Amino acid sequence: MRKTCKIREEESRDMEAVLVLNQLAFGRDNESRLVERLRKTEAFVPELSLVAVRQQEIVGYILFTRIKIQGETSHESLALAPMAVHPEHQRAGIGRELIRAGLARAEDLGFDSVIVLGHPGYYPRFGFQRASRWGIRCPFDVPDEAFLALGLREGALRGKDGTVQYADPFYE
Ligand SMILES: CC(C)(COP(=O)(O)OP(=O)(O)OC[C@H]1O[C@@H](n2cnc3c(N)ncnc32)[C@H](O)[C@@H]1OP(=O)(O)O)[C@@H](O)C(=O)NCCC(=O)NCCS
Repeated sequence: MRKTCKIREEESRDMEAVLVLNQLAFGRDNESRLVERLRKTEAFVPELSLVAVRQQEIVGYILFTRIKIQGETSHESLALAPMAVHPEHQRAGIGRELIRAGLARAEDLGFDSVIVLGHPGYYPRFGFQRASRWGIRCPFDVPDEAFLALGLREGALRGKDGTVQYADPFYE
C-alpha cells in the first residue's frame, strides 16, 4: 500500500528521532552512530540529509555524503548511506520517495553521480548499475553486484574509474 509522506531537509530538532529510526530499521547502533559522526565531517551536505514525515512522525531517513573516486585524477561523487524506513512503514514506497527526492536534490546541487553499497535487488530500479562497469572500485571487500553507481547526467561516469574514498567514519 502506498503511503503519502513529505520529504524535507533534516532539522536539528529531528536528530533524536533520526537516531532512533536508524536503530529501529537496522536493529543495531552502527548506522545511527555513523550518521552522528558523518554530521561532523566536511563530507556532510545538510541539503542531502533528508527525512520522510508522515502525520508529524519521522518515518524515513536518507543521507548522501561527499566521496572521491580516486584514480589517476580525483572525481567528486556522493555515497548514499544510510537509508532507513521505520519497520512499520516499510514496503509502502517511502524509500522510493526518499531516493527520488535525494537524487533530484543532488543533481540540483551540481553533483553528477551517486554510489551505493546496498541490496542489488533494490537500487537498479532507480537506474543504478554495477560500479565495476565504469572501473569504479570499493575500498571494502564486497560482492560486485552490491556496489552500484548512477550517473546523474549523460556520460557522467565515463572515464571516472578509480577507488572510492569515503569519509573517515565509514572506516571506523
Ligand atoms: C531498504 C529500505 C530502506 C527500503 O525502504 P522501503 O520504504 O521499504 O522501500 P520501498 O517501499 O520504496 O520499496 C519496497 C521494495 O524494497 C525492496 N526491499 C525492501 N527491503 C529489502 C531488503 N531487505 N532486501 C531487498 N529488497 C528490499 C523490496 O523489493 C520491496 O519491493 P516489494 O514490496 O515489491 O517486495 C527499508 O526496507 C529499510 O529501512 N530496511 C532496513 C535498513 C536497510 O537495510 N537499509 C538499506 C541499506 S542499503
